[in-house]
Amino acid sequence: MRRLAALACAFALSGCEGVQNALGGQGAESANFIRLFTAFMVVCTLMYLIIGGALAVAVWRRRREALVVDDRRHHDTSSKVGPALAIWTVLIVAGLTALTIASFFTDRFNAAVARNPKIKLTVTANQWWWDVKYTTADSSKSVHTANEIHLPVGEAAEVTLKSNDVIHSFWIPNLAGKQDLIPGRTTDAQLLPRQVGLYRGQCAEFCGVEHALMALNVTVEGKADFQRWYAAQLQPATTPASPDQVAGYGYFIGRECATCHNISGTPASGQVAPDLTHFASRRSIAAGSLPMNSANLHAWIRDPQRLKPGTHMPTIAMSQRDAEALTAYLGSLR
Ligand code: CUA
Repeated sequence: MRRLAALACAFALSGCEGVQNALGGQGAESANFIRLFTAFMVVCTLMYLIIGGALAVAVWRRRREALVVDDRRHHDTSSKVGPALAIWTVLIVAGLTALTIASFFTDRFNAAVARNPKIKLTVTANQWWWDVKYTTADSSKSVHTANEIHLPVGEAAEVTLKSNDVIHSFWIPNLAGKQDLIPGRTTDAQLLPRQVGLYRGQCAEFCGVEHALMALNVTVEGKADFQRWYAAQLQPATTPASPDQVAGYGYFIGRECATCHNISGTPASGQVAPDLTHFASRRSIAAGSLPMNSANLHAWIRDPQRLKPGTHMPTIAMSQRDAEALTAYLGSLR
């Protein structure tokens, strides 16, 4: 029993740590929600204790008085019921009013989180990956990536949300609440990260078989680091250097890969699958499905349908040599 309790405790606590944690509070909106949650928790716990206590006292007194054989006394409680009900009504009204006020101000604070956003990006959901475009007045300075976002700490970001197929939900629990991405409509989310770190976003609306493998890596970093990352992302893809990379590049450009994926600075300009210009600089493959390393990349290229059944990336029959060359080329796209 003790071991079970310890296990349950460890399990509960493990849900409150790390990169995907609604109680993390590393974003302004998330911190506001935690304060509201705490207020609800305190008020509701107090109410619960008062009701439980009153019930216990009533039962205890009824039992004690049942021993006294004088029926008239038991029924003569009307003089106490009135004041008790009045106190209880006042408590309920006070509790609900406090929670209403707290909810109202949380909503106002959250609405003001990104009043003057420094960063603007558009996230478009697809089955089952995220397209990410940073929007700038000068379109040549607009970064296009996939399945990851980078944000400078302490700066507000406005995220425009769209969907290309079904309803998805954009959720980075450490930073903010959920927002749906709806086909044919535009919604938005505001993010104000307050703490540097690596976080994980997750699609929070069932959107098909690979809903669970639709994650988003979020990097919150210092302003200088963010600008370095941004400048690197604006560069065209690295030119293949080694013979393997050259062979992989040839395969990519000559085969079906290039009709779906874009690699800036090459003839590959497909727009229906993730942009791969700086693919190898990301932390994961296939929207958080696998950590980025060459063994996983090789396995993914060989048989995406085995690793993420239903993904729109087809399993293409290719030689071991071609798979190795492709792995070398894609792995060089830093
Ligand atoms: Cu997208 Cu669930």
